[in-house]
Amino acid sequence: MGIGAGIAAVLAEAGGHVIGVDVDAAAGRAVVNSIESAGGSAEFIELDLREVEAVEALGDRLASTTPHLDAVVNNAGVAYFGGISETQPEDWNQLMAVDLRAPYLVTRTCLKLLEAAEDASVVNIASVHSVMTVATMTAYAAAKGGVAAMTRSLAQELGPRGVRVNTVSPGFVDTPLFRAWLDSEPDPEASLARVLSIIPTGRIATPREIGQVVAFLVSDLARSISGVNLMVDGALTTRLMH
Ligand SMILES: NC(=O)c1ccc[n+]([C@@H]2O[C@H](COP(=O)([O-])OP(=O)(O)OC[C@H]3O[C@@H](n4cnc5c(N)ncnc54)[C@H](O)[C@@H]3O)[C@@H](O)[C@H]2O)c1
Repeated sequence: MGIGAGIAAVLAEAGGHVIGVDVDAAAGRAVVNSIESAGGSAEFIELDLREVEAVEALGDRLASTTPHLDAVVNNAGVAYFGGISETQPEDWNQLMAVDLRAPYLVTRTCLKLLEAAEDASVVNIASVHSVMTVATMTAYAAAKGGVAAMTRSLAQELGPRGVRVNTVSPGFVDTPLFRAWLDSEPDPEASLARVLSIIPTGRIATPREIGQVVAFLVSDLARSISGVNLMVDGALTTRLMH
């Protein structure tokens, strides 16, 4: 399960009607089916978040079926590993389009619907790479750091308009992406042990656990929280390596 599916499942269980957006229609429809078979309510819109005009039309499309949006969660993302010499400007642009520009465009096009809600909020899914990173993740770290910075500015602009804006920064999460990385390691078991040894809580988060944090942030329980970059990383980013 990807993080988006975990978030969608938890929000649907909390009683929300979830509208999922993804470029991968099969994956998106599978998430909707699983929510519906568990008794929840969901729908799916196929959309490539790199296409500016299509994303800009999303707000009007949603406005034709719903009077307001309680929350927008910007979760879609792509990761790219590459040194500065290998990373081509087009690689950089593609990553930025999904990881940094899309959260801005989606929030922008949904703004009227968010303002029409009682207590609306936006949650941007960044990463621990928004604050700490490793070599060869320049574009990803720049995009995720940008998401956290954008969140701080938007929280100030949109607070007076009744919209809270927060970032959630996961550490290691047990997703197909994480499993694929593990399988590509020469010794997956040793790599898993190494990852677990650097996380103070000694465990990998589940997609649903990220969903639970999102559910908290979009709920009434978090009405005074806006502009934060919440690490959901088992204290990984508190570590001073020496
Ligand atoms: N998995 C982790 O350990 C981890 C850790 C920290 C942060 N994150 C972040 O969490 C988010 C979700 O990651 P995940 O691990 O579930 O990855 P994933 O690849 O399973 O899910 C990402 C989703 O984004 C969609 N997507 C990609 N490009 C798109 C586009 N152009 N238009 C529309 N949809 C598009 C994909 O189809 C996919 O469904 C990402 O922003 C990622 O950077 C993941």
